[in-house]
Amino acid sequence: MIRWLIYLGGILLMTSISCTESKAESAFYPGEIWPDDKGVHINAHGGGILRDHGAWYWFGEHKIAGGAGNSAHVGVHVYSSKDLYNWKDQGIALQISKDPVSDITDGSVIERPKVIYCAKTRKYVMWFHLELKGQGYSAARVGVAVSDKAIGPYRYLHSFRPNAGKWPLNITNADKKGTLARDFEGGQMSRDMTLYVDTDGAAYHITSSEENETFHISRLTDDYLGCSGEYIRVEPGQFNEAPAIMKVGKKYYLFSSGCSGWAPNAARLAVADHIMGTWKHIGNPCVGTEDQKKITFDSQSTYILPVPGKKDAFIFMADRWRPNNAIDGRYIWLPIKYKQGVPFIEWLDKWDLSIFNK
Ligand code: GAL
Repeated sequence: MIRWLIYLGGILLMTSISCTESKAESAFYPGEIWPDDKGVHINAHGGGILRDHGAWYWFGEHKIAGGAGNSAHVGVHVYSSKDLYNWKDQGIALQISKDPVSDITDGSVIERPKVIYCAKTRKYVMWFHLELKGQGYSAARVGVAVSDKAIGPYRYLHSFRPNAGKWPLNITNADKKGTLARDFEGGQMSRDMTLYVDTDGAAYHITSSEENETFHISRLTDDYLGCSGEYIRVEPGQFNEAPAIMKVGKKYYLFSSGCSGWAPNAARLAVADHIMGTWKHIGNPCVGTEDQKKITFDSQSTYILPVPGKKDAFIFMADRWRPNNAIDGRYIWLPIKYKQGVPFIEWLDKWDLSIFNK
């Protein structure tokens, strides 16, 4: 009996110690330092989130300190969470290579990684924007890696420019010119990108192509490892970047930014009845002061996160880049609200998921 009481006392003591140590968070603080389970600012920039077996996995660019952090020296970092506020460091999902001839060698550029699960092959599939070392942003390729487990390790497969030898579905003969025609044989350029799995299981790649002038949306092959060759141009000549997509009811909404590098600019929103078009520009989704709207609360979109179990609940995820000290980049997560059915975002210093109960 005494031994049992001592044992019980021990358990109670341990529980109270771990409670005081772990300081669980229950709110979002956009733009502030966001500590992981070890108290270190989350290092997952240009990120995206996978929901798998009741948990969330946040994948993003691991940045190092200083300007050197704008290229890849570590890889893609992954964190897991059960509540979206508290994130456990799960390490590096995709490591850069030490081999100088590898596409993903130390000093290449690995941006905006996104992971989706392919039910058909039972693989977790990661796509990212890849720039080859020493070539600035001229390679404009996608990289693909796979894993049997959500947190990795991911095995790098290949890189390519999408849709080589294919014309978009929505063009006329007169459009077969310029950058599109130049890149017809070798494949179309791909820089800022995201992935989307539709409710019917078809997956899509959305990317800034044609020297960033025009978004391309491509249907992926059934194994999600390549582009099927079916693709469309979206808003030609509008210079959209930072694509982030959501589906509300039967409508698709595509958030994006203009092109001003790491410096923020005004967000843009487009709507469509089908992911493969036609897309219509509907303005700036930000509500607030002119200054806030001009620079999207000092951020650039990266992903739209659906919140399960709540109707039409989505979180707008964006990056506040710090190119001079890349590791210090901040995360701007804001709830998406609706006015007459049209999504918008406004600034909040602090909020939690109960906002979606209203
Ligand atoms: C941004 C882009 C980032 C990164 C940066 C480089 O416009 O969204 O992902 O590529 O340019 O200047």
